[in-house]
Amino acid sequence: MADMSNEQILAAIQNADRAHHVHPFTDPSALRQAPPFVIDHAEGCYVTGQNIKLLDAMAGLGCVNVGYGRKELAEVAAEAMERLSYYHSFAAVANPYAGPLAAKIAEHAPKHLNKVFFANSGSEANETLIKLVRLYWKLKGKDSKRIIISRDFAYHGSTIATTLLNGNKAMLDDFGLKAGKDVIHAMAPFWYRLGGDMTPDEFGLHAARDIERRILEAGPENVAAFWGEPIQGTLGAVIPPETYWPEVERICRKHDVLLVADEVVTGFGRTGNWFAQETFGFKADMMALAKGLSSAYLPISAAVISDEIAGVIEGREAVLQHGFTTSAHPVTAAVALKNIEILERENLVGQIAKDTGPRFKRTLKALEDHPLVGEARVSGLMAGIELAKDKPTREQYPLELAICEHVGQACLMRGLIVRPVGNVLVLCPPFILNHGEIDFIGKVLREALDDVQSRLD
Ligand SMILES: Cc1ncc(COP(=O)(O)O)c(C=O)c1O
Repeated sequence: MADMSNEQILAAIQNADRAHHVHPFTDPSALRQAPPFVIDHAEGCYVTGQNIKLLDAMAGLGCVNVGYGRKELAEVAAEAMERLSYYHSFAAVANPYAGPLAAKIAEHAPKHLNKVFFANSGSEANETLIKLVRLYWKLKGKDSKRIIISRDFAYHGSTIATTLLNGNKAMLDDFGLKAGKDVIHAMAPFWYRLGGDMTPDEFGLHAARDIERRILEAGPENVAAFWGEPIQGTLGAVIPPETYWPEVERICRKHDVLLVADEVVTGFGRTGNWFAQETFGFKADMMALAKGLSSAYLPISAAVISDEIAGVIEGREAVLQHGFTTSAHPVTAAVALKNIEILERENLVGQIAKDTGPRFKRTLKALEDHPLVGEARVSGLMAGIELAKDKPTREQYPLELAICEHVGQACLMRGLIVRPVGNVLVLCPPFILNHGEIDFIGKVLREALDDVQSRLD
């Protein structure tokens, strides 16, 4: 490529991509119509591609929490790779990084969650937990407990088992999958869409009791676990009412159902506490972690289990029949350890709680006076801006109008990445966002909303 111009290099990359790369969650017709946008470097809160610099208020996919381009993470990766590029962790072999990383996770996690299994993605962490739930009940002599209760609007991953838990039907239909009798979906705690005349607090209890109703219908002796993201991120940043999670926990305890928190997005500080269980006031028996664990510098995830569950699973003399070649990879573990050190050293979680989080919330809440905005939901540095056609009735725009995509495009034209999902704009920015950048987000969103509204009038 040495004698090629920048334009030629870009065209070569795009052509190779269009000819050979199958993109995840992409409509291939988009790639037939236009070449892909190539992002080729990133620093802090910004990504740059084709000479366009954009403030990434999605931190990639809600994962680059410490921001892009941290030199010390590259240095740690290089050091670890030179020292021990790989060795597996099967059959009781350890490496210098994975044990300390597990201990570090346990240090920040709720007190009773102390045992960590490593995998490579959020999907794999959830998949691992599904198997550990089965194993736990089998070892307890309660083999009939097999049903998992998930929720509408859930997202837990892209593998077959996690897809079954998701609330997105299209993900099942395309692959001939059916949730079947072992997965039941309960109502999402989505007050804005489903709350009707109830107050948010009344609706929080109502949505939690929908889980209890389903446990009773299936028979508690058949229900293994309830699975939930503390905030349902992927399908619209659904922040539950305060009454929801404590009631869910009470119901799970009452019926001897395990409570599994999918903290893949919320883990490691997103809501202003290290884990969203603290923010919403509940304790899970197991949790799935990924994204913020390494700020996505390298792929790594973790399935964390309580002392009680670890006691049962580790109490027998038998091999755990589960694992991945790159579980507890030394290089990814070294990078994740350093990533957590950065979160600690720069007090990024505390800053979300006391400074950036409240400012982000004020800025986005101020948009609620806009004619297109029904509600701005914000927790820490995670937000969903729900558009509404009619505010008093909370009626939605028909999805065919793609109003949200238009607002997203109008943001992009002004240098800002947000994520349109149905009728919600989702924001999940890096933790290092400064005041000026928060103000910029507020300004651009208002201009983009005005722009789209003027086209509707
Ligand atoms: C809550 C939640 N769980 C699981 C996943 C799956 O993670 P991965 O894409 O790393 O498999 C995601 C991904 O966005 C997620 O948001």
